[in-house]
Amino acid sequence: MTALTLSTSSAATVRADAVVIGVAKGAKSVVVAPGAEAVDKAFGGKLAAVLETLGATGAEGEVTKLPSADGVKAPVVLAVGLGDAPAKGEAYGNEALRRAAGSAARALAGTKKAGFALPVEDAEAAAAVGEGALLGAYSFTAFRSNGQNGKAAKGRKNEAKSAPLGEAAILGAKPRDKEFKAAAERAQALAAEINRARDLINTPSNALDPKQFAAEAQAAAKEFGLQVEVLDEKALKKGGYGGLMGVGQGSEAPPRLVRIAHTHADAEKTLALVGKGITYDSGGISLKPAGHNETMKCDMSGAAAVFAAVVTAARLDLPVNVTGWLALAENMPSGSATRPGDVLTMYSGKTVEVLNTDAEGRLVLADALTRASEESPDAIVDVATLTGAMVLALGHRTFGIMANDEAFRTAIHEIAEEVGEQSWPMPMPAELRKGMDSPVADIANMGDRMGGGLVAGLFLKEFVGEGITWAHLDIAGPAFHEGAPWGYTPKGGTGSSVRTLVRLAERTAAGDLG
Ligand code: BES
Ligand code: MN
Ligand code: ZN
Repeated sequence: MTALTLSTSSAATVRADAVVIGVAKGAKSVVVAPGAEAVDKAFGGKLAAVLETLGATGAEGEVTKLPSADGVKAPVVLAVGLGDAPAKGEAYGNEALRRAAGSAARALAGTKKAGFALPVEDAEAAAAVGEGALLGAYSFTAFRSNGQNGKAAKGRKNEAKSAPLGEAAILGAKPRDKEFKAAAERAQALAAEINRARDLINTPSNALDPKQFAAEAQAAAKEFGLQVEVLDEKALKKGGYGGLMGVGQGSEAPPRLVRIAHTHADAEKTLALVGKGITYDSGGISLKPAGHNETMKCDMSGAAAVFAAVVTAARLDLPVNVTGWLALAENMPSGSATRPGDVLTMYSGKTVEVLNTDAEGRLVLADALTRASEESPDAIVDVATLTGAMVLALGHRTFGIMANDEAFRTAIHEIAEEVGEQSWPMPMPAELRKGMDSPVADIANMGDRMGGGLVAGLFLKEFVGEGITWAHLDIAGPAFHEGAPWGYTPKGGTGSSVRTLVRLAERTAAGDLG
């Protein structure tokens, strides 16, 4: 991964291949953001005019590269758009900095080192620039025969030219200041784990089945000192995990339930995180039509996010217990698959009529929610690419939040906003429950089509232990990005919700919640 450093150099003195400066949309013309003063001076105080002449507008994500002037050590200046300039006396927002740093890092692929001379007023802003740079520099090349991760295949050019930026040096930060140092370390751990989640999501399903995912958890647990326990198909069958078994039984690759836990001696609270980990969702016997299954390797994004958040909590040694539950299965059609109409007996003892085998996420999550509840955590948050309905409702950048506790739902919404993740609180209308009434079982796994995302939330709620605060994040929209990269968001797996979960763990540690 790209290295992150804090530097005392100025934009003029930093020894790097390029220096990144910010440009924003002012009231009348483009404005150069604070941090670039030394560069502006080298351009005779005319940097804004030069940029404008080159066509820069300051729009978010816009990149303008120019050769630098005498007095600036870096040979290239990269001006990145920050969007609208803030009102006088106000600072640039952290998310604007994160996105701009991401756009710049993407445009700097193939270079060794860049100095980021963006407006960093405090440690949080420096961390945002760091996160943006490390997330923007991400690339996934593990499956290219000519990628820098693999050996160049015969007769193929190596892609070293597009290797990710080697080092991002944050200028204007205070390298010896405790707060800045901690912020940089946090940014590095967090970005590394988000990029780990992205790698898992991007790995095709023929290289990441439930067993292989569990092995990844075991390896990370060993490296970072976490507890890990894996229930295989024998243990799941014996334990009565009808949801996980019912979804996984059509596949050659059997299901797993992973418990991965960070504990801390000073912890007063325990947070349980539950992730949907469908390593491939074909829909099962209720097969998805072509056009709807090409990206379904991403259906383990919830488990990847939970995994990444727990490991981050360990790397940051947060004084809170964080237990991750990865509900892993592959949803495939076959002679052994669950049929529409089958009834499953879940881990909780409840029976479920499976009307649609494509509504599999709620089945594996139900078992994991019941199991997580047995340990009486202070709160449970599940994360899942659960419904197409949530994508229809909120689009591709925003996840939905449901909860059995309004204050908790609001807290998560505010935390997400604070860390730069778009989310929206969704209701759980009680009248939608009767759509899931089944003539043969306690509940069906499908109800009204209208409000399908909310129906799924109501289903999950039934498997949460009595009196436990719970929230459900439906990340079906933002988990996987199919369009062109933007800001720090690459094509493919995004790592959606990891930043929210980590900040939630920190808040819980600080005693700010419940
Ligand atoms: N994994 C899908 C949901 C999904 C859709 C995720 C698009 C990412 C992008 C989920 O398992 C699913 O198939 N849900 C069904 C539920 C329905 C059958 C009740 C859906 O949303 O159509
Ligand atoms: Mn499905
Ligand atoms: Zn699914």
